Amino acid sequence: MEKKLQKLEELNRIAEQGGGEKRVAAQHKKGKLTARERIELLVDEGTFHEIGKFVRHRETAFGLDQEHYLGDGVVTGYGKVNGRLTYVFSQDFTVFGGSLSESHAEKICKIMDLAMKNGAPVIGLNDSGGARIQEGVKSLGGYADIFYRNTKASGVVPQISAIMGPCAGGAVYSPAITDFIMMVENTSYMFVTGPNVVKTVTHEEVTAEELGGASTHSTKSGVTHFSCANEVVCINNIRQLLSYIPQNCEDTAPVYPYEGQGSEVREGLMNIVPDNPNQPYDMRDIIKETVDEDSFFEVHKDYAENIVVGFARIGGRSIGIVGNQPAVLAGVLDIKASKKAARFVRFCDAFNVPLLVFEDVPGFLPGTDQEWNGIISEGAKLLYAFCEATVPRVTVITRKAYGGAYDVMNSKHIGADMNFAWPSAEIAVMGAKGASEIIFRKEIQAAEDSDAKLQEKVDEYTETFANPYRAAYRGFIDEVIRPEQTRERLISAFEMLENKVDQMPKKKHSNLPL
Ligand code: COA
Repeated sequence: MEKKLQKLEELNRIAEQGGGEKRVAAQHKKGKLTARERIELLVDEGTFHEIGKFVRHRETAFGLDQEHYLGDGVVTGYGKVNGRLTYVFSQDFTVFGGSLSESHAEKICKIMDLAMKNGAPVIGLNDSGGARIQEGVKSLGGYADIFYRNTKASGVVPQISAIMGPCAGGAVYSPAITDFIMMVENTSYMFVTGPNVVKTVTHEEVTAEELGGASTHSTKSGVTHFSCANEVVCINNIRQLLSYIPQNCEDTAPVYPYEGQGSEVREGLMNIVPDNPNQPYDMRDIIKETVDEDSFFEVHKDYAENIVVGFARIGGRSIGIVGNQPAVLAGVLDIKASKKAARFVRFCDAFNVPLLVFEDVPGFLPGTDQEWNGIISEGAKLLYAFCEATVPRVTVITRKAYGGAYDVMNSKHIGADMNFAWPSAEIAVMGAKGASEIIFRKEIQAAEDSDAKLQEKVDEYTETFANPYRAAYRGFIDEVIRPEQTRERLISAFEMLENKVDQMPKKKHSNLPL
């Protein structure tokens, strides 16, 4: 027995050394951790159990029959994050550059299957040179097996991808299907075709970082939801994100112990919206003042900044927040903002996270760029996402709620459960000036002093429509509240809606305008 135990220990030691000391040193030199070090940071201490530690590739071509590494370039298994079961795969760049072989893919599929059957999140730590070149189509098949499972798991268990090194070619499509992507600044990149191919085809000179680094994908493409300063920040972000979401689509998010600090009145909310309706303010100030202290966790922070999305807790309960951002482009809805918010709303709805909307929106962004790029169908995504959401939904209108954007932003008409407005709310078809120029055009033109007439009409329109009361008279607003009461009203509303049951009609699946 002693000898047999020694053999087991020896194999464990070999598996744990990955591609060997030299390659591990090279990995560290690049400022990157190894696959195992990353898992250690991610899971609660002592909770990780590896699966498939001794798996080897089966390839014999190109001398690979002579080159084997136990584990075959990916560490897979399960552990606990914040005390809750989580499945993990972590690609090992020190073994064949973390490239994906048939066996490597099988290991990933195995934990994905377990995650689906047992209803727990899958975290993928990606660091790979792509398809194992020596394996050809077997490797491509392995990718497809993963994509297929990513799609089946979508909306069933949360899937989070961290990109901590190269992720190119077909490899990008697994993270793309998952719910959230994090990228590490300066050491990771994602692209379908790299700088060399780009140069050959389009004659553009571009570095890997410019083409697909964290900063590019967090600001320009929106492919990544989080740009992280380093790997530790990235892994902490994953842990934090998991704390707001349930284990699967039939579960609810953990409720954190909350003892009211006496009063829920927040005087600070009184002074955020400026008197001048054209003056910007930061919607994040309202969000942070309203939710539990330090609980706001912003998602997609640097992309489409005219809308703010993120998770928070209110009275200890997890919520997803969507807020127009008057500080950027006056909070207008455009293509990027609609897509960003729609994806977030759909995630929250899929995973039973109640939605809170803070609304201050002057409408949709006009222009040929928007129209020619499809603001009609792209904007419809957000409308559609809210319409089909069955989770508890609450809206607070802080200022403007104009035109079609009023309908889109979680209005009562499309299924919101509780709609509040502050006295500063202006719920109208459009701004007073634009409206007066259209409906009083003849009167203004006929007037001796047309500017004075216009102003008179603007004042008249403002007096009539730039308030929340017409909507409240019709019941489209449930209550007009003082800003400082907002937190108390929201805690109570979400508590009241805790057991909400609502369903979409039976269908195979919806047909979201894509
Ligand atoms: N298949 C098999 N082995 C691969 C590989 C792949 N796709 N990608 C990298 N490797 C191996 C390298 O041969 C090298 O092996 P070694 O340690 O025995 O020398 C090791 O992984 C590290 O690669 P290296 O090129 O030295 O690392 P790098 O940091 O300089 O570059 C990449 C990383 C990803 C840019 C580069 O390896 C690369 O271009 N790989 C191929 C990418 C690709 O075209 N993939 C297939 C299409 S999806």
